Amino acid sequence: MKILVINGSNLNLLGVREPALYGNRTYADLVRFIEASARDAGVEVEVFQSNHEGALVDRIQAARGVFDALVVNAAAYTHTSVAILDALKAVGLPTVEVHLTNPAKRERFRHVSFVKPAALATFAGLGFGSYSRAIRYLAARATNPKL
Ligand code: DQA
Repeated sequence: MKILVINGSNLNLLGVREPALYGNRTYADLVRFIEASARDAGVEVEVFQSNHEGALVDRIQAARGVFDALVVNAAAYTHTSVAILDALKAVGLPTVEVHLTNPAKRERFRHVSFVKPAALATFAGLGFGSYSRAIRYLAARATNPKL
């Protein structure tokens, strides 16, 4: 099974941006964590990050026929992007939404998610652990599609 992890805007600044919220570990640490989680779950993974909405849409579209599932942290675009929702619906791959923080416990404008309608599940508020949960869920679901 091949999973594509998509990370949106400002996640490249992990370790620098609002450490009280996002922690001190860097984006490179997150990528290493995701790769280790995938190894543990026995799946292949590729990780993509962009600050640009259109680049994220392009990457989602290009995943069609190449990847079996998506893990998506659209970051701020979560709360604004109909284009990302439409891309996720267009490719129709099993998708899990993830967030490092729990947007439901933050400002009101973060309570809306345009990714959620295309997602099988959401893991939020677990820091890097949101990604390992998503990967484990997708790996388990590959052997039991009822999940
Ligand atoms: C985030 C939460 C979003 O509200 C925010 O805009 C981000 C990161 C998270 O992972 O907690 O950039 O997606």
